[in-house]
Amino acid sequence: MPLDQTALLIELEPVVATNLDRHLALAKEWFPHEYVPWSEGRTFDGLLGGEQWRPDDSKLPDVARTALIVNLLTEDNLPSYHHEIASLFGRDGAWGTWVHRWTAEEGRHGIAIRDYLTVTRAVDPVELERARMAHMQSGYVNDHNDEMLHTVAYVAFQELATRISHRNTGRATGDPIAEQLLARVAADENLHMVFYRNLLAGAFELAPDQAMRAVTDVVAAFEMPGANIEGFGRKALSIALAGIYDLRQHRDEVLSPVLRQWDVWDRTDLRGDGERAREELAAHMETLETQAARFEERREARKKRRGES
Ligand SMILES: [Fe+2]
Ligand SMILES: [Fe+2]
Repeated sequence: MPLDQTALLIELEPVVATNLDRHLALAKEWFPHEYVPWSEGRTFDGLLGGEQWRPDDSKLPDVARTALIVNLLTEDNLPSYHHEIASLFGRDGAWGTWVHRWTAEEGRHGIAIRDYLTVTRAVDPVELERARMAHMQSGYVNDHNDEMLHTVAYVAFQELATRISHRNTGRATGDPIAEQLLARVAADENLHMVFYRNLLAGAFELAPDQAMRAVTDVVAAFEMPGANIEGFGRKALSIALAGIYDLRQHRDEVLSPVLRQWDVWDRTDLRGDGERAREELAAHMETLETQAARFEERREARKKRRGES
């Protein structure tokens, strides 16, 4: 008999407790204000009568700015994410402690990135604020808000995806200060990924067929949490063309290593729907391989046409 949601929460609580302790032992305290070059700041126009933002205030490449905006808006939607995971995981016991701790750590990311962008005049602050308002008002809804294993599988992949995206965005800025800040954020995302990955590993031990089904469903329908940002398609394309986050990285640096950690390809404990889910997953990974290769070819051809390589 498959375990219901309540049984899964109860059975997995010891895994949450162990990994919460592990997380707290490894997580380093850090301070957003130390990462921001405050002395570069100048008062803006409006109430205080400073200088209006102008496009040539920003020294960052266009695509780095786009990626920073997408990453920041994604971080900004934290109240919605908190709502989703607190509703599903609950706010009691080890689950609740994790939910609150995770939320507090994520809160730092938006603070630090926004401070950096505002002080360095890297983006238009009016446009950024309007984009934040629009994005947060549309909210975020978990596609699997009544299925905790699906949600854990999703966040395991998503934390790793944001890690890679932050890190590569840092490199794309060409600014060592931004790079240092985003590497710090990426290190947090990596610890979050490890927490959720270990939790789902516990679920594989407890209920392998259910865990396998959850993973396959999530991989097949994966969308970044910022997918409802205005103009996301266009932004995601330029981010992919710049190699900050593309299908190849998604497949080879996010999905594949996590799947390997769960030993999905060599497990001997799958039956029935679990076995079917693994076959579907294998087919999906093949499709992704073809799509990633096709994108890389088109990107190369585009670079040649533009004389970039
Ligand atoms: Fe974050
Ligand atoms: Fe995170």
